[in-house]
Amino acid sequence: MFSKTIRAFSTSSTSLKNIKIGLIPGDGIGREVIPAGRAVLENLPSKLGLKFDFVDLDAGFELFQKTGTALPDETVKVLKEECDGALFGAVSSPSVKVEGYSSPIVALRKKLGLYANVRPVKSVEGIGRPVDMVIVRENTEDLYIKEERTYKAADGTRVAEAIKRITETATTRIAKMAYDIALKRQAIREASSATGLHTSPSVTVTHKSNVLSQSDGLFREICRSVYDANLGLYDSIAYREQIVDSMVYRMFREPEIFDVVVAPNLYGDILSDGAAALVGSLGVVPSANVGENFAIGEPCHGSAPDIEGKGISNPIATIRSTALMLEFMGHTDAAATIYEAVDANLAEDSIKTPDLGGNSTTQQVVDDIIRRF
Ligand code: NAI
Ligand code: MG
Repeated sequence: MFSKTIRAFSTSSTSLKNIKIGLIPGDGIGREVIPAGRAVLENLPSKLGLKFDFVDLDAGFELFQKTGTALPDETVKVLKEECDGALFGAVSSPSVKVEGYSSPIVALRKKLGLYANVRPVKSVEGIGRPVDMVIVRENTEDLYIKEERTYKAADGTRVAEAIKRITETATTRIAKMAYDIALKRQAIREASSATGLHTSPSVTVTHKSNVLSQSDGLFREICRSVYDANLGLYDSIAYREQIVDSMVYRMFREPEIFDVVVAPNLYGDILSDGAAALVGSLGVVPSANVGENFAIGEPCHGSAPDIEGKGISNPIATIRSTALMLEFMGHTDAAATIYEAVDANLAEDSIKTPDLGGNSTTQQVVDDIIRRF
């Protein structure tokens, strides 16, 4: 249910229950990777005490071409009234504007109040640059409110303006989410005795308040005051601030130092795409769209028409997105089981899809991950 019983940051659940997951494959390879998320959930060890039901839901550009609707009301209704969480594959977007079409995932984020885009970027020990960070991007305001106007200056030349809106309300909730994620990551590390990059949690608040003293100044001030006001809860977290341009520099110079990064919408968008470049393939980077009561796991990649139908899409971004969804539902043990199996697969050279230099199929990678549970 879209219910009060599911809280994004509850500790690991021990109650036995059936969990209903909406599956929205969308377009292209979305249809090849969403079954991987389902297979992972169906094959979780029974000792975790979770049982899943699934409901297939429509959305996407192909659906729009057939029916004139990209996001049917029924899909939203079932998600709200019946589902505990959801997985979204990818949607194709036409390169030219098509009258009446707008992205169903953007609409879903609005309709379900999913105010944060959470994007973990993680390398596997010993492969490439060491990185294990989560970017927590505010998803509802900043310059992305799209309040723009163009007018003529006195000399007849055009001037364009956009409003950057930062609110105390949205900043408070995104800051809390960042701190809570930092604590949850630490709990998972401790539970799995993982020897990772971070031995203690940290949150880096990204801003440009040296120039934008009011808007980014408010973002920075609220992030700090949420931390100070909850010191009893957050005192194990190291609080850091970083101006966004030097943040980009440091993220590429020394990505290993960052644990959780919280940012307003625009900086979060740019930082998270940049961070994905640190770990090799789009096929391994997950995300979750998160609100108070609901999370949708979504791989970062698109519908990949160039590899559609070949059976070689990398399922790892979706499998990690599935774990992320479970984390936000409070099932941290199940999430850790999935993350560890994925890392174990990536740490070996044998079973990989071609984007990672291997020659295995989507199904072979899914089977290899599941056998490691
Ligand atoms: P894309 O992410 O679909 O593909 C970029 C490149 O990465 C391609 O070479 C593709 O083969 C490869 N790739 C992506 N995912 C992969 C996976 N799981 N395994 C192996 N290789 C993978 O981005 P592109 O080509 O720019 O866009 C294709 C379509 O997807 C467009 O219509 C675009 O609008 C849409 N798109 C949708 C997104 C979403 O639904 N959130 C995000 C990005 C693009
Ligand atoms: Mg982006």
